[in-house]
Amino acid sequence: MKELQSRYPVSEKAKAHTHIDAATYDAMYKQSIEQPDVFWGEQAKEFIDWYQPWDSVSKVDLKNSEINWFSGAKLNVSYNCIDRHLATKANDTAIIFEGDDPTEDLKVTYQELHDHVCRFANLLKERGVKKGDRVCIYMPMIPEVGYAMLACARIGAIHSVVFGGFSTESIKARVLDADCKVVITADESLRGGKRIPLKANVDAAVADCPNVHSVIVVARTGGDVAWNEKTDINYEEAVAKQSAICEPEVMDAEDPLFILYTSGSTGTPKGVVHTCGGYILYAAMTHKYVFDYKPGEIYWCTADAGWITGHSYIFYGPLANGATTLVFEGVPTYPDAGRFWQVCEKHKVNVFYTAPTAIRALMSVGDELVNQSDLSSLRLLGSVGEPINPEAWNWYYEVVGKRNCPIVDTWWQTETGGILITSLPGAVDMKPGCAGKPFFGVQPALFDKDGNTLEGENQGLLVMTASWPGQLRTVYGDHNRFYQTYLGQYPGNYFTGDGAKRDEDGFYWITGRVDDVLNVSGHRLGTAEIESALVLHPAVAEAAVVGYPHEIKGQGVYCYVTLMGNAIESDELNTELKEFVAKELGRFAKPDYIQWAPGLPKTRSGKIMRRILRKIAENDVDTLGDTSTLADPSVVENLIDQRIIHG
Ligand code: WTA
Repeated sequence: MKELQSRYPVSEKAKAHTHIDAATYDAMYKQSIEQPDVFWGEQAKEFIDWYQPWDSVSKVDLKNSEINWFSGAKLNVSYNCIDRHLATKANDTAIIFEGDDPTEDLKVTYQELHDHVCRFANLLKERGVKKGDRVCIYMPMIPEVGYAMLACARIGAIHSVVFGGFSTESIKARVLDADCKVVITADESLRGGKRIPLKANVDAAVADCPNVHSVIVVARTGGDVAWNEKTDINYEEAVAKQSAICEPEVMDAEDPLFILYTSGSTGTPKGVVHTCGGYILYAAMTHKYVFDYKPGEIYWCTADAGWITGHSYIFYGPLANGATTLVFEGVPTYPDAGRFWQVCEKHKVNVFYTAPTAIRALMSVGDELVNQSDLSSLRLLGSVGEPINPEAWNWYYEVVGKRNCPIVDTWWQTETGGILITSLPGAVDMKPGCAGKPFFGVQPALFDKDGNTLEGENQGLLVMTASWPGQLRTVYGDHNRFYQTYLGQYPGNYFTGDGAKRDEDGFYWITGRVDDVLNVSGHRLGTAEIESALVLHPAVAEAAVVGYPHEIKGQGVYCYVTLMGNAIESDELNTELKEFVAKELGRFAKPDYIQWAPGLPKTRSGKIMRRILRKIAENDVDTLGDTSTLADPSVVENLIDQRIIHG
């Protein structure tokens, strides 16, 4: 492997392909900041079909948490993702489905997508779903998850997709919070040859959700499921009876499109709300420019539809652009760890977008499996979800991309709707480990914790000083929480929860979360959620959870648990507690380590000092810093003695 360079200039090949060269980026960025309404008005006309234009492009007052883009304009997102392409692309492939089983695949044309979505939309209508109603989607990664989302968008229902790895408790909490009356699921999902009982999880969840009147069940595996005649609907039978024509509902630009729950530093997950107009414009535009997408290319984002990356960059952005998007049901390591590369070869993938955790895992099994596949179709590679360490970047660049594909490291969040910081492939040089420069209209700044702006080359808290169309509009059912979490800390600015460095060239390097949010294998988790799950166990009196650097997962989960007086520390209980969390939240949240903690380091006012716990979990115990403010400094000695040393 060649030595790692710190900077890679834009290649001639990328320049020849790009929509946006360096001069265009500079000019467009300048206009987007100096005349945002002119800029976004033009983009909105270019990217989106509107039934009726807007009264004003932006009406934003971040201090008062009011964010409006394209007020008064009318559109339908499903129309923009499907119908408007039919005149020229009816027989082009919209979705390539690649099953968990490598012998199973399927192509769905835009015309077929239209028909599936319309039938599904008509079925929802028949079940009484109307504009503004919430629908929960808990599905495998099969085309039907996209049909379900677009069917909701078509009739103006608000979808809330719940990741298929979440447990019963997590589904229940989300269904209740949004008061969903319909749940869309499948009998089972297939992952790495294993069956996961989605319907059974939904059954257990909706047993406590009295307002759910319909559960629509797609037959994925044909596995046995319990059937409730009152609520359950067989999807295949029901849609066969529906018409393949369904007029799109005319939606206001600021009507909600979806809710997506995400973890914060405190409390239960928040229902992030995105609205129709701004979101679809931002998803479409970033998809085209960040991936330099050209018609006819095969585009593959490996995320799950249950996360924002799946929303914006498997379905909404690519379909709005009339792209061919690949939907992959399986896992990177089944049947073997060469699967991603086999799929790239099989479907001649041009653009491949994945997460650093997957790259690191595949890097660890060696180059041979990559080299067994013909990857000559690849033009561009993307990374998302966490900072990519330079070693993984280098492997991705050299071994996967053969030094022939730019890498776009894309920084963004559930709340931002789309990519905010990246190196546009034809315009901005790449620096391994660095997210790059702001997208159009995005105005990042670095603050110290008192809200003072840090100029030039510096490091601080990453904020956005202005709105962009893809910004979240509220937290579902709790506008005050929206303000407190994102806008109230530094009034007039959006606080990201991330720290960042800006270098001498004005490039941004994301340093990671500055709050108690973990990023485990690209899955976002609040330490508070894991703590709440642990204390539900009868043996647990108190728990404190921190992250530690993990070679593959990015971060691992390290828990300190104080037991009830009558409970006894044992290896069995340790294992039981890990499984308990996996059951409460989902397997991806299973703790890596649980350390028994007879006491936790607390200030005299009772606040747990996580800084100290983090250092102990990282095995960095020589620089614990000031412990004099602790109520009982001796608990720290015990925790250090008993710490779990991991490799
Ligand atoms: C982290 C995922 C560094 C960051 C799209 C952010 C990243 C959180 C990157 C959001 C990146 C995402 N470099 N860190 N390229 N992309 N993050 O809401 O900490 O699941 O705040 O959205 O992931 O995670 P979320």
